[in-house]
Amino acid sequence: MIECRNLIKTYISGDVRTDALKGVSFKINKGEFVSIIGPSGSGKSTLMHILGALDNPTSGEYFLDGHEVSKLDDDELSDLRRNKIGFVFQAFNLLPRTTVLRNVMLPLLYSGMTMEERNKRAKECLRYAGMEESKFMNLSNQLSGGQMQRVAIARSLINNPSIILADEPTGNLDTKTSKIIMDAFRELNRKGHTIILITHEMDVADCANRIIQIRDGLVERDAPNKPNDHVI
Ligand SMILES: Nc1ncnc2c1ncn2[C@@H]1O[C@H](COP(=O)(O)OP(=O)(O)O)[C@@H](O)[C@H]1O
Ligand SMILES: [Mg+2]
Repeated sequence: MIECRNLIKTYISGDVRTDALKGVSFKINKGEFVSIIGPSGSGKSTLMHILGALDNPTSGEYFLDGHEVSKLDDDELSDLRRNKIGFVFQAFNLLPRTTVLRNVMLPLLYSGMTMEERNKRAKECLRYAGMEESKFMNLSNQLSGGQMQRVAIARSLINNPSIILADEPTGNLDTKTSKIIMDAFRELNRKGHTIILITHEMDVADCANRIIQIRDGLVERDAPNKPNDHVI
């Protein structure tokens, strides 16, 4: 489903050249739960942007469902991002002073669905992500961090993506809440979604069935993992 072949990403700003990825290769199959772990500055977010078709590598090839992403035109790219991938970020990226329900519905604004259909779909996703029904009409800025991340997960599910890409999703959460959010990802994986989770914390990475360790823009280790439910 996902294949990276020798991905290289070099940023140039002014005289400064940063080799963020120096030749990264791996495959991820449908239904896997993979953590990508590495220290700050190792290239995780750069890799996530390429995997999410938000950016192209400087060289190397990235295939998503058989398509080489750098060869797609803008329409094909936005289609791919909208329908195949759900994004979850550390900072939640919710609209403040906007209800939970509306935050989840927003990506459907230009979908051609009626208001009623969008409402129904958003509620399904919120339930699927384990959000309490009584909070659907709350403003997003009145929620706890864990609740905000559940809303962000519900929003990432709105187009029923096969892949969920999460960049440091527990980075702003305390240990107990992190565990609850990791359980939500485990549950989504059981329901068939491929999960790619990026983190710098070993106890978070340990919830996955495979751990890819990156350091200085290279894969240092790529091995199966027996998920540990009790670590966090
Ligand atoms: N847009 C950018 N322009 C220039 N350098 C960047 C940019 N994004 C990231 N970098 C650099 O690339 C390296 C990898 O960054 P990043 O992928 O964000 O790592 P991580 O997410 O693991 O902390 C770092 O040295 C960072 O400073
Ligand atoms: Mg990062």
